[in-house]
Amino acid sequence: MQFVTLNNGVEMPLLGFGVYQIPAEETERAVSEALATGYRLLDTAAAYGNEEAVGRAIKSSGIAREDLFVTTKLWVQDAPAEENTRRAFETSLNKLGLDHLDLYLMHQPFGDVYGQWRAMESLNRAGAAKAIGVANFYPDRLIDLIVNNEIVPAVNQVETHPFFQRADYQDLMREHGVRIQSWGGFAEGRNDLFANPLLAEIGKECGKSVAQVVLRWLTQRGVVAIPKSVRAARMAENIDVFDFRLSDEQMARIATLDTGSSLFFDHHDPEIVTWLAKRRLDT
Ligand SMILES: NC(=O)c1ccc[n+]([C@@H]2O[C@H](COP(=O)([O-])OP(=O)(O)OC[C@H]3O[C@@H](n4cnc5c(N)ncnc54)[C@H](OP(=O)(O)O)[C@@H]3O)[C@@H](O)[C@H]2O)c1
Repeated sequence: MQFVTLNNGVEMPLLGFGVYQIPAEETERAVSEALATGYRLLDTAAAYGNEEAVGRAIKSSGIAREDLFVTTKLWVQDAPAEENTRRAFETSLNKLGLDHLDLYLMHQPFGDVYGQWRAMESLNRAGAAKAIGVANFYPDRLIDLIVNNEIVPAVNQVETHPFFQRADYQDLMREHGVRIQSWGGFAEGRNDLFANPLLAEIGKECGKSVAQVVLRWLTQRGVVAIPKSVRAARMAENIDVFDFRLSDEQMARIATLDTGSSLFFDHHDPEIVTWLAKRRLDT
């Protein structure tokens, strides 16, 4: 596995395993298989409802804690969010059965963002979260957070796939020391990604599948990828991307697939913002 070094010196695997939309009752098996396949970065969230199952799989794996990189995410909190954030962090930690997180992300740029971030900064200073970051922050929100706070997010996890490539945004993040992490690296299969002729052609040239071409393209750009699959064969396929290299010409051909816009949510759309910002978890 290759690693990247975050802006505070923490080492993070370049490829991991995401568990969004894996039902809680299937998650323990899926994560156990992912760990057995060799994944060491796990990406969950309070909002996914499967942190306990992730925790059980970690425990039964017997893998040393220092060899794992566990990320979870804070859901939107009301102002003043300091106390709520600390409570939400403890709840996630207890569900996961861990005594610290490797990365704690603010899941959405909504609610009392500053209060949430200040609480996350204290958790980071106390060593309870080795790194802190954000998700779904568009450039305006990210720069505002950086300019007005002490700790620069180590990571920004944003929708990034061949149809929404984020190259300019990645450059901006790099300038500020923020590592880009892709969610929905396969666009969850939208736009018929797995049958895309251009990606299939490049796959043929390399002797690799479309999924492997996409993950190689992301990681070769320095984008941390966290593909999700409930199938052991695909887990193995998705981690097997470090024995080939895409040429500059192949990278340039993939660049032509970029549409420059989201296939999921526009975090500037008032209806989407209302829907996300009003949602509260039961915990
Ligand atoms: N921060 C956020 O707001 C946010 C939002 C979305 C996602 N995420 C994170 O990012 C992770 C990845 O994104 P995602 O789960 O939305 O989608 P994704 O990884 O883009 O796509 C997952 C889909 O691709 C299929 N798949 C996986 N490997 C395949 C392969 N080799 N060949 C063919 N199909 C394959 C899976 O089916 P099977 O499972 O049936 O194999 C599943 O339907 C999530 O799990 C989550 O951890 C974060």
